[in-house]
Amino acid sequence: MNWFAENILLWYREHKRDLPWRHTKDPYKIWISEIILQQTRVAQGYDYYCRFIERFPDVFELAEAGPDEVMKYWQGLGYYSRARNLHEAAKTIALAGRFPETYDGIIALKGVGSYTAAAIASFAYDLPYAVIDGNVFRVLSRCFGIEEPIDIGAGKKIITDLANELLDKERPGVYNQALMDFGALQCVPSSPLCLFCPLGNHCISLKDGKVDMLPRKAHKIKVRKRYFYYFYVRSGNCIFLRKRKDNDIWNGLYEFPLIESEGALSEEQLFRSSGFKSLFGNASFLQFRMVKEKMKHVLSHQWIFADFYEVWLPEGTDMATSYMKVSIDDIDKFPVSRLISYCFSLILNSDKK
Ligand code: ADE
Repeated sequence: MNWFAENILLWYREHKRDLPWRHTKDPYKIWISEIILQQTRVAQGYDYYCRFIERFPDVFELAEAGPDEVMKYWQGLGYYSRARNLHEAAKTIALAGRFPETYDGIIALKGVGSYTAAAIASFAYDLPYAVIDGNVFRVLSRCFGIEEPIDIGAGKKIITDLANELLDKERPGVYNQALMDFGALQCVPSSPLCLFCPLGNHCISLKDGKVDMLPRKAHKIKVRKRYFYYFYVRSGNCIFLRKRKDNDIWNGLYEFPLIESEGALSEEQLFRSSGFKSLFGNASFLQFRMVKEKMKHVLSHQWIFADFYEVWLPEGTDMATSYMKVSIDDIDKFPVSRLISYCFSLILNSDKK
């Protein structure tokens, strides 16, 4: 075994996290855990994983569920395309009758890329594939002093080749888990624990005083700002919702009537906008109040600034056809984004007072 793998495995023996998906070889459960953990920290994903597996203990249960229910179990986790792809892939697997057992079969599943395929193949079947994610990029670029930016071809190739070379082919599953934990707990993005690092004697960036500078990136993420004006519209015992569609955030989740703008609007601009007119026409408002202003919601490539209004219309009022009228008693059945869920909690709590 190479010195790198040896040190990582020694470290893992002492620091290994006890996680439910590490007590199974069931590829279905490992797959669910890896999709949840793709863009989510263990601390956040843990409860979601437990709830998901309890409700959908095997791929057939998942394949048979309705899309809204699957999304409900994903509510709050973000990156909702993961849940849609997971559901679609479950149907494919159920049709085939069993989970794929090769790397090529696994990577052919919807929503599974090279990282997830390597994780499932190595954890479930001990196949020799190296996981290469942000943690691995960080650990290897620091330890081996790789200065090429990791977000362009040359840097990616250097790290990928190195990761494949370092993989412990005898124990790929344990080695991959170990390297992940090492990146998540020891060689963390800021203030890594270099003083107590088992790779300290080998680490080139530590010797050169460059730990904080690596990994390098060539491109900065461009952030798009969007301004959402949401209207919690109440008519009698009902509110209005619609399902988001198309290639945009929160596809498949439900939301209140919305006016969106690329720039911030004053209230006057908002109320005079064509969006406001088409939502409310000549509606007679029984009540109209702002609930929350400029709630900032940060996504990886977007900042959403949301204002929420609570609007009461006379009982029996209908809105534009794209909105469904839903009884207030049924709202828990609809998967919604964190923002909408937050607005619900503000309004429903203020109703109780
Ligand atoms: N992040 C992604 N996959 C993981 C796993 N299996 N264990 C811990 N963290 C992870």
